[in-house]
Amino acid sequence: MATRFDTPLARAQLSSFSLPQRPAIRDLAARIATLADALPETALPAAVADALQPYLGRADLLDPRYTEGDVEQYRRHLLYADPLRRFTILALVWRPGQQTPVHGHTAWGAVGVHQGWLEARSYDLVDAGSGLLSCTETACGEAGPGDTSCVQTGLRDIHRLACRGGDGAISIHVYGRDLSQDPGSINITLPH
Ligand SMILES: [Fe+2]
Repeated sequence: MATRFDTPLARAQLSSFSLPQRPAIRDLAARIATLADALPETALPAAVADALQPYLGRADLLDPRYTEGDVEQYRRHLLYADPLRRFTILALVWRPGQQTPVHGHTAWGAVGVHQGWLEARSYDLVDAGSGLLSCTETACGEAGPGDTSCVQTGLRDIHRLACRGGDGAISIHVYGRDLSQDPGSINITLPH
């Protein structure tokens, strides 16, 4: 006979609760859960970006273990996985010169810069002929501490983030699906 800890939801709760979360992360997660209860999915990216903004730059937001980067590529840290699998909160730590591929997302997303500066480039998917698709750049800008943005699911908001210099950067990302097992599965990588 299964115990109450053997259900998928119970396992998810145990998994997320086992993460060492600071009060600020728990508070942010509770605010996002309230939004997820109240709003249609199409309204969540912008609403979550607004909810995330006041937490950016707070000295009490991240445990030091979640500010560690990697010499090989930007590093993802799992901060919180919603027990109902509706969203995941990640911290991305960037060293100068590190960047994402050009990509879309398998879920909606909201992102904010916690520390440092990031370059954000936007792209359109175009027919390159002979049945091939390619991405052409449409905009380029910089985002600094406290700046937020959001994207819809799929290929409508194709982009690339890069850390070009300084002392590196840290960004906080909220994505609209469970990524606790494979955070990298959020990206749909595209040719460029
Ligand atoms: Fe992205």
